[in-house]
Amino acid sequence: MKKPVSVGVLGCGYWGPLLVRAIKGLSHCRLKTVCDLDIARLKHVCALYPDLEGLTDPQRLFTACDVDAVVIATPVKSHYPLAKASLLAGKHTFIEKPMATSSQECEELIDIAERKGLVLMVDHTFLYSAPVQKIVEIVQAGDLGEIRYINSRRLNLGLFQKDINVAWDLAPHDISIILHILGEFPVAVNCQGNAHVTPQVEDVTNMSLIFPHKRFATIQSSWLEPRKIREMTIVGSRRMIVYDDLRTREKIRIYDVRVERPPHYDTFAEFHYSYHYGDSYIPHLQQEEPLALACRHFIECIETNSAPMTGGRQGLEMIRLLEGASASLKMNGAPFAFGSSNGSALARGPIGNGDRLVQSPNPKTVRRRARRARNGVTIV
Ligand SMILES: NC(=O)c1ccc[n+]([C@@H]2O[C@H](COP(=O)([O-])OP(=O)(O)OC[C@H]3O[C@@H](n4cnc5c(N)ncnc54)[C@H](O)[C@@H]3O)[C@@H](O)[C@H]2O)c1
Repeated sequence: MKKPVSVGVLGCGYWGPLLVRAIKGLSHCRLKTVCDLDIARLKHVCALYPDLEGLTDPQRLFTACDVDAVVIATPVKSHYPLAKASLLAGKHTFIEKPMATSSQECEELIDIAERKGLVLMVDHTFLYSAPVQKIVEIVQAGDLGEIRYINSRRLNLGLFQKDINVAWDLAPHDISIILHILGEFPVAVNCQGNAHVTPQVEDVTNMSLIFPHKRFATIQSSWLEPRKIREMTIVGSRRMIVYDDLRTREKIRIYDVRVERPPHYDTFAEFHYSYHYGDSYIPHLQQEEPLALACRHFIECIETNSAPMTGGRQGLEMIRLLEGASASLKMNGAPFAFGSSNGSALARGPIGNGDRLVQSPNPKTVRRRARRARNGVTIV
């Protein structure tokens, strides 16, 4: 029998205890230690699980010979230094989303993990959920036809974060789902938003991701909404899906509806759009907790020495996108174009601006400026 993977969790705030519960429920894995700088949080988790060893110094976790893997659930600005120390100490490392505060930090972590042959995983939790896996299966089977656009809303009152804005806090969920469904990276992003409650920390943002072939996705994120909303619509040329993550059952519904133009007409009187209204149906979903599945995937990747579905590279993609969104936010929503090597990229204007072309500034300057502002991340 193989020795179970021994794990330590860093961070016992809001999300850490959920990871502790998920890891505790796994076989082939032994949760040994939890660590938090805040002794009250540490006492809270150790009272729930008296068999756990509690530490206040992360270094002691990194130097423990009997710990194989470290799970990091601390504020975003600490992800990079903690993950770097963990990887350099030879521990497989799981980092909560978003992976770090800049793409340079992500690249360095990927490099260390590759050099040391360690598993580096980022928790893009929703990709492990049954509704998202079902949506991807339906899209890949071609059942929706051509995807025309995706619209996502993740809104609620609070939880206000102090070190990241709402785009860096909530939009990673939508971004990871959208990139997974479409299987490609956008050519440009634009983002507008406002900070109403905490100065310089935007609590409401609207983001558009512009993809090749006239496809786009919009993401609305807010900590200021009276109602909690977690809704995504995927509009295809043949069918459409509405995904409502707040429903306990029936989270996704597929609508067999579409609009077609008549193939040929001679007079205006002959012209009629044809509206197709077919059935709508709700596929059966096997309900399993996505966080538990993500943790199990991490352990399996360690045991089989394989690359996670959401590894460092997917984490880096997310940060590149968020950096672009932050740069656009600072330009009052002007689009930020990705992948321009000559430094004077031309990107189409935001959705709704028709064919207006907006010249985005030299991406190097924007990146420098964005770095100075620590992207959407403010240091408090
Ligand atoms: N995957 C998801 O759905 C999901 C949901 C919520 C939060 N998160 C992520 O989890 C992470 C933590 O978020 P949270 O809401 O739990 O934050 P939190 O502020 O509630 O908790 C963070 C904890 O980390 C501790 N901490 C800070 N620096 C530390 C250090 N250097 N060493 C040890 N402990 C340290 C703090 O004392 C605190 O108890 C964030 O990256 C967040 O984006 C992910």
